Amino acid sequence: MLLTSRSHAEYRAMFDLSDADLAGVTLDCAAGASSFAAVASAAGARVLATDPLYAQGADALAARLPDDLVRAQEMHRAAADRFVWDWYGSPARYQEIRVESGTRFLADLRRAPGRYLAAGLPYLPLADRSVDLVLCSHLLFTWAGEHDHAWHRAAVLEMCRVARREVRIFPLVHLGPGEPVEFLGRLRAEVEQVTGARTACPPVPYEFQRGADRMLRIRLHRGQ
Ligand SMILES: C[S@@+](CC[C@H](N)C(=O)[O-])C[C@H]1O[C@@H](n2cnc3c(N)ncnc32)[C@H](O)[C@@H]1O
Repeated sequence: MLLTSRSHAEYRAMFDLSDADLAGVTLDCAAGASSFAAVASAAGARVLATDPLYAQGADALAARLPDDLVRAQEMHRAAADRFVWDWYGSPARYQEIRVESGTRFLADLRRAPGRYLAAGLPYLPLADRSVDLVLCSHLLFTWAGEHDHAWHRAAVLEMCRVARREVRIFPLVHLGPGEPVEFLGRLRAEVEQVTGARTACPPVPYEFQRGADRMLRIRLHRGQ
């Protein structure tokens, strides 16, 4: 799995985030080298980020990020018809955003290491209901070829455990050709039954992988 560095602007679009959504504490789960936590924190939001790769430390991540970004670019070139470039304008601008975002992430990781926790789903080292909103981009569903239904259920329930208000997951299709994930409907029903949450898959104002234009939104009812 490549280290990727989506930007704050991409997160705002992928998760259709408003300023009100970022009130309280937000967790970026499987954050990789995304600059979302850095940029949102600089703007006054309270954000934590988790990823197992953070155990490697900033120097190791800085050493591998340029190669990972080039490998991702080559993958996009080799399968150009699977991607929609409208949101970015051009492949060159896409790559600039990745580099800018990764640079911002690395600077913030060095300046504020306490914001970045080494942790891998389906376990998060956080107390029950300790954050308001959990965001998770490009791990669940994207990697459903490697992680099965039971793993996804455990991962979603873990994110629901630590969230007071909501969990949002993007995208909802497999990596590559972007086929739908066959167990999504069953998973939604199970999560609703276990947590009492309401789930929905609304469209979002972002599409890069063709057909990946919806998020899973899990609204928890706790304390209401
Ligand atoms: C494709 S990257 C996405 C990074 C970031 N969310 C973004 O959109 O740019 C997937 C990330 O998931 C992380 N990851 C892999 N296995 C994980 C797990 N079990 N729990 C949490 N994160 C994991 C990887 O280290 C990687 O940084």
